[in-house]
Amino acid sequence: DRSNLVVRLPRRPDNIGTPRNDLMEMQMKALILSGGKGTRLRPLTYTTAKQLVPVANKPILGYVLGHIQDAGIKDVGVIISPETGNEVRNYIGNGKQWGIKVTYILQAEPAGLAHAVKTARDFLGYDDFIMYLGDNLLHHGVKDAIKEFNRQSPDALIFLKEVDNPQQFGVAKLDRKGNVVKLIEKPAKPPSNLALVGVYIFTARIHDAIARIKPSFRGELEITDAIQKLISMGCKVKSEILSGWWLDTGKKDDLLQANTIVLDEYIKRQIKGNVDSRSQVNGRVTVEKGASVINSIVRGPVIIGKGSRIKDSFIGPFTSIGDNVTLLGSSVEHSVILNNAFLSGVERLEDSIVGKNTRVIKNSIRHKALRLMLGDDSTVEV
Ligand code: G1P
Repeated sequence: DRSNLVVRLPRRPDNIGTPRNDLMEMQMKALILSGGKGTRLRPLTYTTAKQLVPVANKPILGYVLGHIQDAGIKDVGVIISPETGNEVRNYIGNGKQWGIKVTYILQAEPAGLAHAVKTARDFLGYDDFIMYLGDNLLHHGVKDAIKEFNRQSPDALIFLKEVDNPQQFGVAKLDRKGNVVKLIEKPAKPPSNLALVGVYIFTARIHDAIARIKPSFRGELEITDAIQKLISMGCKVKSEILSGWWLDTGKKDDLLQANTIVLDEYIKRQIKGNVDSRSQVNGRVTVEKGASVINSIVRGPVIIGKGSRIKDSFIGPFTSIGDNVTLLGSSVEHSVILNNAFLSGVERLEDSIVGKNTRVIKNSIRHKALRLMLGDDSTVEV
């Protein structure tokens, strides 16, 4: 009886080591990770999935999906968590907007990136796939990266970027020829300053590696450990050092930096709302439909969302104002103000993130006191 004999075919054995043709390129799937708890972005992430926090008024996940679309990938799995899954589903819907077919995959607990791949096993089958962390932003997208993968035909292609704080990432050690010799997750003593970017291209071999790893010091099945395992299994792991910027938007300062870079890169001068004759709007400023700028100064790059009202105020460079925000007699620079926030008489706000439906009001009462009602895990510098 041969029915128990499970034959696990290696990936397309007839094609190993030969360059793939266009048809095969089209088979690549994408796995977007959009779960997790986003603890490093609290309190914003109590009400919003970290991948949906906006950068230049567009959720980070929107950029990720745009990159997947640009690369011509159609079959996309999205890992979601029980906490924020519905919100992510509402945003992506059936994926039509990006010309993709979406399969949602629930990861019941945040047990690591390799665990997410395990959870997506049925969706992935034996196909090659690009795994893209939904809170990562890449300057040049992933189209060229996929071309490179198809050209070199490795078992995995990873991307690296020099960083100042490698302790906070997965870190790679290369030999003189540029081959990856070692990968470590969040090392106390990093062997290099080359961080693992949250975009990986894998063949089905990764599943065998994942089956052989154990949870890490933080109790997670780490994709970093799985790639290390691939190397020790003798598989071909290639790396590319990214030339453009890469942003991991997981923390306040990173989010502000992402906002700055994205505004600088993409914002065009586009005035669809109303700007009165007493206002000055200089440089690359987008004023969305239904927004009004009254007796105010705006210096780009800045985006002002739909229905927002800016009166007797100053908005300095690198500021994103969401939809239906009210700014009265206030001054804001290098900040992100989310939907429905209300700011009045705030003399100078800089390097700040203001959450949805938040009110910041300067009182004219005589004794100098701060009156605060802050959400859990908030930070205020006065
Ligand atoms: C994860 C990976 C890490 C990688 C980083 C990139 O870290 O484990 O290797 O460098 O993404 O964003 P995490 O965000 O889970 O701490």
